[in-house]
Amino acid sequence: MIYLDNSATTKPREEVLETFVKASAQFYANPASLHTLGNAAEDLLESARRQIAGSLQMDTVYFTSGGTEANNLALFGVAHTYAHRGKHIITCVTEHPAVLNTALALERQGFEITRLPVDEGGHISLEDLQQALRPDTILVSLMHVNNEIGTIHPIAEVSRLLAGKRIFLHVDAVQSAGKLALPADAMPDLLTVSAHKLHGLKGSGILATNNVELAPVLHGGGQESGVRSGTVSVPHAAAFAKALRLATPSPDQRAWNNDLRTFLSTFERVKIVSPQGAAPHILAVAVRGVKGEVIVSGLQQQGVVVSTSSACSSKNTKTSHVIEAIRLPQPYRNGVIRISFGDFTNRTDIDKFKQAFQNVYEVIKGV
Ligand SMILES: Cc1ncc(COP(=O)(O)O)c(C=O)c1O
Repeated sequence: MIYLDNSATTKPREEVLETFVKASAQFYANPASLHTLGNAAEDLLESARRQIAGSLQMDTVYFTSGGTEANNLALFGVAHTYAHRGKHIITCVTEHPAVLNTALALERQGFEITRLPVDEGGHISLEDLQQALRPDTILVSLMHVNNEIGTIHPIAEVSRLLAGKRIFLHVDAVQSAGKLALPADAMPDLLTVSAHKLHGLKGSGILATNNVELAPVLHGGGQESGVRSGTVSVPHAAAFAKALRLATPSPDQRAWNNDLRTFLSTFERVKIVSPQGAAPHILAVAVRGVKGEVIVSGLQQQGVVVSTSSACSSKNTKTSHVIEAIRLPQPYRNGVIRISFGDFTNRTDIDKFKQAFQNVYEVIKGV
C-alpha cells in the first residue's frame, strides 16, 4: 500500500519502537520511586524532557497522552489560572476540535470566546485579531498548520502583535512539529506536539511552556510538578524524544506538492482546496459532484491510501467545519480528499498516486 494519510497518523520508526521496548524492559521502575531503579528511570525521563525542550526551544515540557490532552491542558490550564486577569480567549473557526470543543466547554463555564473567521484559503486576518483583542483577553490559541488543508497561520506576526501585552499565545503544532519549523521570531508561550504525527507512538504528546503557570486538568498524585498527575510513562517519553530527534521530512515535499497541484488541475472536475503557500506535506483537493469516500475507496482499490478531509471527520457524514469555514463551493463540498506525506514518502509513491487517480477519475467522470 502507498500510504499518503500521514496527517491522520504516521508509521512509527523502527528506532522509536526499539527505544520504547528497551526503555520498557530496562527502565520499568516508577520514576517517582526513591530506589536506584526509580532514579535510573527518572534520569531517562528528565533527559528526554531536556532534549525535547531544547529542540523546541521551550523551558518546560509536560508529558501528556497526546495532542488532545495537551490542548485541553493549555486552554483549561491558562483559563483557570489567569481568570482573575480576564475571561476572554481568542481562537479561530478552523482549529482542531481539541481546541474548539475545549473553548466551548470554557464558554459554558463563563469565559467569552472570539472565533476568528478565515478567508477562502483558511487564512486569518491580523486586523481581525487586532480588533478582537480586549483588556480582558488572556489567551490566543492558534494552530501552526491546519490539519485538513495545510494553511499556515502567521504565528510570528501574531506573536509580534501580542508582544508586551499580558496575553499568552498557545500554538497547536501537532501538524507541523518535526516537519515545518516555526519561524525563529515566533514566540509561543505554550506549544502542543503529538508523537504519532511524527513517526512516534500514539497516546503520547507534550505541552511545552515558557513561563506559564497551569492549573491541572487531571488531579491525583501530583506528578509533572502537579500539573499532570498520573505515573509518567518513561518509555513513551524516551520514544517521543527519539521520534522528534529523527524527524526528517524530505526536502522534495514542496516539489511533489507542486507536481500534484499541476497534475490534478488538469482534470476538469478537480479543484485544489489547499491555498498556495500551504504546508508542503498536506494537499487537499476536491472533485465536483463526487463523494470523497468514493474517491478514497477507488484509490484504495488501486493500492493508495488517502483520506477525506480529516481522520476525525472522515467517518462523519457532516461536511467538515474547515470546509464550511473556507466556503468551498457547494458542488465540491462532499468531494474533498486529503493527500499527506510523511518522512517515508518518496517520488515513486507520488507517481503511483498519479496513476491511481487517473484510473479512478476515468471511472467516476461519467457519474
Ligand atoms: C492539529 C491537531 N491538533 C490536535 C490533534 C490531536 O492530537 P492527538 O491525536 O494526539 O490527540 C490532531 C490530530 O489529528 C491535530 O491534527
